[in-house]
Amino acid sequence: MEKIERNAPCWCGSGKKYKHCHMALEEKIRHYELEGHMVPDRSMLKTPEQIEGIRESSKINVAVLDYVAEHIRAGMSTEEIDRMVEEKTRQMGGIPAPLGYEGFPKSVCTSINDQVCHGIPSEDVILKEGDIINIDVSTIYKGYYSDSSRMFCIGEVSEEKRRLVQVTKECVEKGLEQVKPWNFLGDMADAVNTHARANGYRVVIDIGGHGVGLEFHEEPFVSYVAPKGTEMLMVPGMVFTIEPMVNMGTEEIFIDDEDGWTVYTEDGKPSAQWEITVLVTEDGHEVLTW
Ligand code: MF3
Ligand code: CO
Repeated sequence: MEKIERNAPCWCGSGKKYKHCHMALEEKIRHYELEGHMVPDRSMLKTPEQIEGIRESSKINVAVLDYVAEHIRAGMSTEEIDRMVEEKTRQMGGIPAPLGYEGFPKSVCTSINDQVCHGIPSEDVILKEGDIINIDVSTIYKGYYSDSSRMFCIGEVSEEKRRLVQVTKECVEKGLEQVKPWNFLGDMADAVNTHARANGYRVVIDIGGHGVGLEFHEEPFVSYVAPKGTEMLMVPGMVFTIEPMVNMGTEEIFIDDEDGWTVYTEDGKPSAQWEITVLVTEDGHEVLTW
């Protein structure tokens, strides 16, 4: 990290002197780094102005999910969900982040039953009674990114699928309890993983979450299976996603080689995912997407 003279203005744009702003925090981070921990660099610590932008973006993201929640029903195609997401997002002044992202062809990811994530909306995929589906919405607003997803149960859903959906949501809540300054991302991951395993489920290892805000996917990579005390130190100003993919059976997955996107469980058993964007604050966290 570049050294700043103590009386110079802080890099974050607060207008305060460095010694009255980020200096103490960065000294503390340095201490953890010297102990061998992974620590965030300055680009991962959002300024108050950036946080406000991500907050605004997140409000749109939540409103779009609320809109989907009001309208989703059996008989609807995932293409219709895509249209709803794009229209609602643009109506609120945002841009759907998935559209064109690394070639992704649609505005939202729709992943049904044994699809783990990154399902592509299609006219041919019709929601039917008994399905569980993840709707993953990501928004760009004034250049700021937000990202969150929810599960929906279509009509009457089997008890075992319902339980998977519920436990996966609890996994996010358990993980969130660990989000506070000077904890590690591994503390959060371990809470997620422990709850999933206690319920007989497996958390996907190969795909994780990410920092978010100025880009769609930023550092750090966020694991949901890492042990306590490992992975990156959490510091106020970091914004990242908690988005574990929880499988009823094996954690093994594969990517559809025809569309190059859709991720499936290897054993064909169902998978669930909930996602929030969270900010690490001075005294804990703020969920930006609830
Ligand atoms: N919303 C997904 C995530 O949580 C984004 C997948 S990339 C896309 O990271 F192109 F498929 F949208
Ligand atoms: Co995400």
